[in-house]
Amino acid sequence: MAVARYHIFTPMQDISISRISVSDVLALQTISRATFLEAFAADNDEENMKQYLQENLSIEKLTAELTAPCSEFYFANVSGTPVGYLKVNYAACQTEQQGDNSLEIERIYVLREHYGKGVAQALFQKAIDIAAHRNAENIWLGVWEHNHRALAFYRKNGFTEFGRHVFMLGTDAQTDILMRRELR
Ligand SMILES: CC(C)(COP(=O)(O)OP(=O)(O)OC[C@H]1O[C@@H](n2cnc3c(N)ncnc32)[C@H](O)[C@@H]1OP(=O)(O)O)[C@@H](O)C(=O)NCCC(=O)NCCS
Repeated sequence: MAVARYHIFTPMQDISISRISVSDVLALQTISRATFLEAFAADNDEENMKQYLQENLSIEKLTAELTAPCSEFYFANVSGTPVGYLKVNYAACQTEQQGDNSLEIERIYVLREHYGKGVAQALFQKAIDIAAHRNAENIWLGVWEHNHRALAFYRKNGFTEFGRHVFMLGTDAQTDILMRRELR
């Protein structure tokens, strides 16, 4: 598969975005698990975290997601090393059916040492570019109600709340706030 790369220059660092293919599944699993633990281990039960990593971030599950026809994954790289990633879904791959005119950001995850340095913004811009390319009318996502930093990130990028849904972290039923940004 052709790998599309482009660079975003920020005052802080040179960030490149690259499509993740199935041959990158190990690197994707490594960064997925590391960023999930960094973000949520302190505020959640250890068993539920373990169950989530085993069931949702297994090689089998990630491989299936990488080969799905309506999901795309991208790394954000600094000096050639992945420091964050993006997963977007459209059409039937969306975790809640919002219709063919919508694009879902299912995950933007950045390693903590790269928070606040434009990496998340570069991944978000990639999602906007994909949405524009697909002529999507809006972008939507779900974010944990206690994830204040992510809520602030999405609000500053023009998202507003339109609903709530349940996200299972192991056996813990958590509330996600659904947010949407219109593109036209
Ligand atoms: C959510 C995430 C992608 C945002 O990336 P980031 O680089 O941290 O984002 P930014 O620093 O640009 O913006 C975060 C905003 O949160 C706010 N903020 C900063 N620190 C905060 C804190 N401790 N608590 C609450 N809000 C905070 C600020 O308003 C900041 O915006 P500013 O640049 O205007 O000051 C990143 O923090 C991350 O990967 N988190 C873990 C995974 C995650 O939660 N993903 C989202 C769910 S899919």
